[in-house]
Parts: sequence; C-alpha cells; structure tokens
Amino acid sequence: MISSVDIKVASIDDVDVVYNIDKECGSDSYSKEIISLSIKNDINFIAYIDNCAVGYISCSRVLDEAEVLKIVVLKEYRRKGIASLLMKNVINKLVEVDVGVLFLEVRSDNVPAKMLYEKIGFEKIYERQKYYSDGVDAYIYRLSLL
Ligand code: COA
Repeated sequence: MISSVDIKVASIDDVDVVYNIDKECGSDSYSKEIISLSIKNDINFIAYIDNCAVGYISCSRVLDEAEVLKIVVLKEYRRKGIASLLMKNVINKLVEVDVGVLFLEVRSDNVPAKMLYEKIGFEKIYERQKYYSDGVDAYIYRLSLL
C-alpha cells in the first residue's frame, strides 16, 4: 500500500482523464459520451499519485442498491492497494447515503478482479453461463453494506 494516493470525485472536466485510464480495459473500454454521462449521473472517483491519474472507479446507484460499473488501475501501478482504496471510498460514500447492498459483474476469467472483490468481502451469488460474446461466463458478486 502506498501512502501518497489522493482520491478525488471526478468532475465533468475529467472525461479525458477517465477515458485515458479506461483504455487499459481494451475492448471493454467506454466511449467519452458514456464516461461523460456516468460522471454526471453516477459516483466516480479518480486515484492520483503525484498529480498523475492512475485509476478510477465508477458506480451507479438506484435507491438503496448500487453496482460497480468499472474499476481500472494503470498496469504499472497495480498491486499497490489503489483499487482497494477506490473501492473503500465508494463504499464509504454509499454507506453515507444509506445504500445497503453493492453488486458487480465480472468475467469468470478475470482473476485479479475476482481476487480483489473476494478480498474486500464480496460473495459470488450467481453465474451467467456464456454471458460474454466470447463464451466466457459472468459472475455476479454481492457485498452487504449494512
Ligand atoms: N493476482 C492475484 N490477486 C490479485 C491481483 C492479481 N493480479 N490483483 C489484485 N489481486 C488481489 C490481491 O488479493 C490484492 O491484495 P495483495 O496485493 O495484498 O495480495 C487485492 O486484490 C487488492 O489489490 P489492489 O492492489 O487493491 O488492486 P489493483 O490496484 O492492482 O487493481 C484491478 C486491481 C482488478 C482493478 C486491476 O488489475 C485492473 O485494473 N485490471 C484491469 C481492469 C479490470 O479488469 N477491472 C475489473 C473489471 S471492470
């Protein structure tokens, strides 16, 4: 864990910043239009090290439920606790506004993401067989915030 990570709420001026980090996700990356809509409507945090944006998280909320839409950390900054810190900030925010449960969906072959979620305490509650276009299953995870 590195101590000098700053977590900031993303503003509409950060569309390009988020877009550039998101390109790390390759074919799953979002367009600038989707990022712009998400910044306006959802909870988005950006992680900075020395004023350099190194990761972000996006989370949508409907009433007392929320869903992590995306979490990405630049390759050279991974395994330093940045995704965990982003998730902690989202969870704190959701608890503050009385959200009771957090869901997310992940490809079954995404080992780093599954390990991250399980370390945080998410439980796998459902499998969607051959959900993705390449035949990979989707796993649905749930974390109670109560
Ligand atoms: N292999 C095994 N476990 C891993 C792992 C890996 N490559 N990456 C993370 N973990 C687990 C470990 O338990 C780790 O704790 P430890 O380092 O003390 O062992 C824990 O998750 C926390 O890791 P952290 O450093 O907070 O995660 P990160 O900043 O490296 O980011 C991802 C994790 C998944 C966000 C990052 O790998 C990433 O950006 N991947 C590409 C985008 C993606 O697939 N996002 C998820 C779907 S949107």
